[in-house]
Amino acid sequence: MSRLRSVVCGGGAYLPERIMTNSDIAGLVETSDEWIVQRTGIRARHIAADGETTSMLAVRAAQAALADAGVSADEIDLIVVATSTPDYTFPATATQVQAELGITHGAAFDLQAVCSGFVFALATADKFLTSGSHRRALVIGAETFSRLLDWSDRTTCVLFGDGAGALVLEAQEISGGGAGDRGVLTTHLRSDGRHRNKLFVDGGPGSTRTVGHLRMEGREVFRHAVGMITDVIEDAFRATGFTAEDIDWFVPHQANKRIIDASAQKLGIAPEKVVITVDQHGNTSAASIPLALAAARADGRIKRGDLVLLEAMGGGFTWGSALVRW
Ligand code: UT7
Repeated sequence: MSRLRSVVCGGGAYLPERIMTNSDIAGLVETSDEWIVQRTGIRARHIAADGETTSMLAVRAAQAALADAGVSADEIDLIVVATSTPDYTFPATATQVQAELGITHGAAFDLQAVCSGFVFALATADKFLTSGSHRRALVIGAETFSRLLDWSDRTTCVLFGDGAGALVLEAQEISGGGAGDRGVLTTHLRSDGRHRNKLFVDGGPGSTRTVGHLRMEGREVFRHAVGMITDVIEDAFRATGFTAEDIDWFVPHQANKRIIDASAQKLGIAPEKVVITVDQHGNTSAASIPLALAAARADGRIKRGDLVLLEAMGGGFTWGSALVRW
């Protein structure tokens, strides 16, 4: 029996030129390189230039992904952009990306699940592709979180950065459809809005009519993160029969190295299989996973046929996992 699978054909990423180190931030608020590195693992982050918008980062990442996949823009019929920092309240940043790429057919929309956005977007695109309604998707995570930060709040401004990453996925007929075949094998999404006030932006068009600033009870988020992450990964293992030992690469959302290390340890995933970019990118929200994927592809770690485990957790709370045979 043959069935459709969403197969990754290529990926790409883009980071703004300007790099802001911990020492640079120590010039703005009372903090230190030592505190930031010890508590988060972050050493530097990229910051978008004035006038450089989320869609601009997204377009650069999308172009890199298309080139990597050997797919032309007019072969794309679905664009899903995961972002919490859209260029405008509307229209969707995805339509801006679509126009910049010269695509006039298919569908383009944004999806907002904060730091879990990329996993939610990947799962969404997978449903479209495996239903047969669309053929090739650009799944993009793009953020300019620097624009949401209160640069006088040391508990949040040290944590985040800007960037974008993208994957090209194609619906392919897989005969057999076993777990050894390439493609998205399983996705698991969760939300619990009771936690919405632990990590949020204190503005919006429907409430304050302003953009607002990011507010977070960091310790509370940390307290829930490891349990939620490991739960939803156990769901992926249960659905596929794979175990931690079968994983070639663990590519988690990059919020805090301590959360990543604790999650990997609890699951029994060996440290050398964990892809870390939080040291150089900070937390780029929905962009962090595709940025990390691009880094691990570029240096030859992730190869065709590898079993890659993705996970994210963020505002809402939202959290999710995806298991992909590259
Ligand atoms: O991607 C979405 C998900 N978000 C996350 O996963 C973030 C989760 N949370 C975290 O990563 C951590 O909670 C933080 C990195 C935000 C904070 O680390 P922590 O170990 O939980 O520190 P804390 O909040 O308990 O603060 C410890 C101390 C406090 O001082 P007192 O009360 O002990 O005197 C803070 O005021 O560190 C102080 N502090 C700082 N000191 C220097 C907080 N921020 C800073 C700072 N520099 N930037």
